[in-house]
Amino acid sequence: MTELVTVNTVADARAAVTERQRAGDRVALVPTMGNLHEGHLTLVRQARQAANFVAVSIFVNPMQFGPGEDYRRYPRTLDEDRERLARDGVDLLFVPETKDVYPRSTDETTQVTVPGLGDIFCGASRPGHFAGVTTVVSILFNILQPQVAVFGQKDYQQFLIIRRMVQDLHLPVQLLIVATEREPDGLAMSSRNAYLVPKDRERAPLLYQTLCHTRDRVLAGERNLDLLVAVATRRLAGAGFRPDYFAIRRAEDLGEPTEEHQDLVLLAAAWLGRARLIDNVLISPGR
Ligand code: PAJ
Repeated sequence: MTELVTVNTVADARAAVTERQRAGDRVALVPTMGNLHEGHLTLVRQARQAANFVAVSIFVNPMQFGPGEDYRRYPRTLDEDRERLARDGVDLLFVPETKDVYPRSTDETTQVTVPGLGDIFCGASRPGHFAGVTTVVSILFNILQPQVAVFGQKDYQQFLIIRRMVQDLHLPVQLLIVATEREPDGLAMSSRNAYLVPKDRERAPLLYQTLCHTRDRVLAGERNLDLLVAVATRRLAGAGFRPDYFAIRRAEDLGEPTEEHQDLVLLAAAWLGRARLIDNVLISPGR
């Protein structure tokens, strides 16, 4: 197994990747904000299946945090992260500094935005968030020029937005999506779960349970989706969540489904104490 190489500058990252691509390697990138958990590591394993050179980036991207959000207190655990990645056989770790990613202030930097898809659900609750995501992901793609990039279903809207960006800008990168990794009680793994106090951590799995229960009602033939959404939202609010949205949409593009749409996604975001939790489940054909 090769040693994990850590690089901090754009020039070093480019050089490391270009050398391997010249040697004929296929490069996969897993972009992250660090504080790695099993969810991130399943992405790394998937990347390993798809490429013989695996790069992971760790960058807490200021552009995707709104004013008053958790940019400053977002957990940063670089030493532990590096150890886990070395154990998992990652080839390159890219940990850039903000001034290298954004030589200008983030207000003055060129932005990549995906209209429509980027403005609903999490985009409506967190204005500017997805522009920050698509901008940093396109910068990372340009620096590292991966053939493959791996993202989690946990952030389903984020995945769809990045896929749209890749299509619209004709970026030569193949995207992979990996199923959500969960705690034994069903809670989707997330760095932000650390913000949950014990009482809230205990009831947090209700978000996933409610999504699954609602999915089962759809699978059983319930057609009144508005009613299902209202019941689910009430159930969460009754248990102490502050629901942000709960929706049943077309899996392909988050549009409003009609009777003939088979591929659906149930998406939810809700505050529990200081943590904003998001989760989703897919309904595939043959339901
Ligand atoms: P971050 O929250 O660190 O997540 C990095 C990647 O891990 C994303 O693709 C996310 O969907 C995936 N992921 C997170 N939790 C997961 C889980 N429980 N199971 C499977 N995959 C999971 O998402 C971001 O960072 C940023 O927005 C980023 C894309 C890096 C741009 O800054």
